[in-house]
Amino acid sequence: MKTLILESIQTSVEEIADKSASILKKGGIVIFPTETVYGIGADAFNTKAVDKVFEIKKRAKDNPLIFHVFSEKMIEEIGEINQIAKKIIKEFWPGPLTIVLKSKIDKKFTFGLDTIAVRMPENLIALKIIEKLGNPIVAPSANISGKPSSTDFEHVYHDFYGKVDCIINGGNTVYGIESTVIDVTEREAVLLRPGSLAIEEIEKLGIKVIITEAIELKKRSPGTRYRHYAPDIPVILFQNKKELLQILEENRGKKIGYMGLYNPLKTFEKTIVFKSLEEYGRMLFSTLRYFDAQKLDLIIAQLPEKKGLGRAISDRLLRASEAI
Ligand code: TXA
Ligand code: MG
Repeated sequence: MKTLILESIQTSVEEIADKSASILKKGGIVIFPTETVYGIGADAFNTKAVDKVFEIKKRAKDNPLIFHVFSEKMIEEIGEINQIAKKIIKEFWPGPLTIVLKSKIDKKFTFGLDTIAVRMPENLIALKIIEKLGNPIVAPSANISGKPSSTDFEHVYHDFYGKVDCIINGGNTVYGIESTVIDVTEREAVLLRPGSLAIEEIEKLGIKVIITEAIELKKRSPGTRYRHYAPDIPVILFQNKKELLQILEENRGKKIGYMGLYNPLKTFEKTIVFKSLEEYGRMLFSTLRYFDAQKLDLIIAQLPEKKGLGRAISDRLLRASEAI
C-alpha cells in the first residue's frame, strides 16, 4: 500500500487536517500525533475501518479503543456525562486523561461494551482532523501490540510504513506516555491505567481516585491483560544502589544499556541518565526502542517511586520487564 506522508513543518494544519479527514471519510487509516503518543486512527463509526486498525496493529479483539473527540457536543452524543465527569472535563480537557463513561451508542461501535472510553487530545493537528471528520476517531497507540508505543515519527514509520494510508510527522510527542485512564461510571473514580496525568492532580479537585489491585484491574481494564511495551532484549529493574550492584555482579561481561535518574558513575555500552521524571517519561519508549536496535544483551532500568508521574513510568517498566 502507498502511504502518504504529511510533514507538519512543511504543510499547514488546515491542509493536513483536510487530507487526513478525507482519507478517514473513505474508510482509510491515518497515524497522527497526540500530546501523549502517536495514535493509529479510524472513523469511529466505520466498523470496517476500525477492524482494519485491529488487524494492522495485531491487537486482541476484546481490547476496546479510545474515542478521540473534538468538542463537548461530540462527547454528549456518545457518553453520559455525570457530575464527576463534568468536573474532570472542565479541569483537564483537552489533555492526557481518558474517562470511561456509560455509553449512549450502539454496542456495535463500542466493542460490545456498555461503556465508552473518551478523550480530547491536546494537539492541534489531532483536534483539527476530528473536527473536519465530524465523527470521533478511535485510535490505539501506534505500535505493534506488545511493543513500546511510538513517541516520534521514526517509530511509526518503522512499524507502519506501507501498511496504512497516511502518516503525519508531528515530531516528538510532549509527554511520551499514554493518557491516564479512569472509570467514572460510578460515584467514585477508579484508576484503570496510570498515565501522563498524575492522579494526585485529579485528587486536588476533591475527587478520590481508587487504585485497584492488579487482579481486579485485569477484569475492568481489558488492556492490562496483555503483555506490553516489551523490547526484544530482557529488561531488569532496580530500585536502589544495592540492587543495581547485585544485578551488575550477576551480569558481568554482558553488553548493557542503562537508563535511570540515578547516575551510576560507570560506563555501560549505552548509558542514559535522565534529568527529571518528566524527561524519563518523555524518553522512556524511545530509549527502549533505541536500546533494542543496538544489539545489547540486557537493559537495566531504574524503577522510580510510585508517586506522581513515577506511577505511570513504573507501570510501563514493570510490563516491559514482564514483572506484571
Ligand atoms: O494516550 C493515549 O491514550 C493514546 C493516544 C493515541 O490517545 N491511546 C492509547 O490507546 O493509549 P490504547 O488503545 O493503546 O489504550 C487504550 C486503553 C486500553 O488499556 C483499553 O483497554 C482501555 O483504554 N479502554 C478502552 N475502552 C475502554 C472501556 N470501555 N472500558 C475500560 N477500558 C477501556
Ligand atoms: Mg497501547
